[in-house]
Amino acid sequence: MLELFSKRNFSFEQIPDLTGKVAIVTGSNTGIGKVCAKEMARKGCTVILACRNQEKTKVVIDEIKTETGNQNVEFIALDLMKLDSVTKFAQEFKSRYNQLNILINNAGVMICPFGLSEDGIETQFATNHVAHYYLTMLLLPILEQSGPSRIVTVSSLAHKIPFKKLNLESISDPKKYNRVIHYAKSKTCNILFTKELSKRLENKGSNVYVNCNHPGSVQSELSRHIVGPSSIGEYIYNKFCISTEDGALTQLYLATSPEVEEKKIRAQYYVPFASPATPVGVSSQPEAPLELWEFTENLLKEKVDGYTGAPI
Ligand SMILES: NC(=O)c1ccc[n+]([C@@H]2O[C@H](COP(=O)([O-])OP(=O)(O)OC[C@H]3O[C@@H](n4cnc5c(N)ncnc54)[C@H](OP(=O)(O)O)[C@@H]3O)[C@@H](O)[C@H]2O)c1
Repeated sequence: MLELFSKRNFSFEQIPDLTGKVAIVTGSNTGIGKVCAKEMARKGCTVILACRNQEKTKVVIDEIKTETGNQNVEFIALDLMKLDSVTKFAQEFKSRYNQLNILINNAGVMICPFGLSEDGIETQFATNHVAHYYLTMLLLPILEQSGPSRIVTVSSLAHKIPFKKLNLESISDPKKYNRVIHYAKSKTCNILFTKELSKRLENKGSNVYVNCNHPGSVQSELSRHIVGPSSIGEYIYNKFCISTEDGALTQLYLATSPEVEEKKIRAQYYVPFASPATPVGVSSQPEAPLELWEFTENLLKEKVDGYTGAPI
């Protein structure tokens, strides 16, 4: 909420010309993701809205096309609660495009009641971390071929909510479920994933820049599980939040600013508005990135027929 007064290091006007570039934004039919898709389209980028609801997304695509004049804005179905849908998304994308310059892992759910994905993985961990990890692995070869390219994974200030360990072995156990802590853990995973992936790519000399961010406390639909629609609680909360436009700035900086390559910004966590920050708690533990990576690899091998491991 203090973001209302934060220094502005980036603006939409500073997004460079993106003509000839291809971007994917997950969860872009509303909220922060929608703004990212629109502002990149405005700069000439081909943008794929990776969303689960075709009807809702079609309305947004029409709006983006009309407002920006860019007709290269498309829907490809992606439901992060189904790993099979992630496989199909990647197949469909690769059958239609031979380059990918920007991947924004933006979609998320927050503090929802206990539930399991189609693959039996707790909803917040499944959506916010596992499916995005899998999506990124499937798209990594094309991102590397298209380098210099970017991966931005949207984390949260909520990674600071204190907890001692990820306890990954029991992450999908309903008896161990705490909706707030599980959200904090999933957003911690976004940071840990960024660190490990970036390290591996850098060691290989790859030209993919991997970073993550907290968008700010943003007026969006994300609070749908905390306060009921049109409730007084939501009204008060939104009064202290920044707009979705301002919420999109930090991830748009990481996804598009030439400074990312010029300043070799890798494995970093950024906060509004486009400022570097230091993650805390489990996100800062040196052994945690590899532990999460290995756990996720084993989980995907168990859940996805034919998954033979990360291409890195
Ligand atoms: N808003 C904040 O204050 C805040 C603060 C910190 C971090 N963040 C992070 O910012 C990101 C964007 O959030 P937002 O505020 O823009 O929230 P939002 O308005 O609720 O948008 C979330 C997006 O994620 C999509 N999504 C959820 N589950 C999905 C699934 N299984 N498959 C495909 N798409 C799915 C939603 O699609 P549907 O419409 O189909 O549900 C929607 O497009 C999230 O990662 C969130 O954790 C937000």
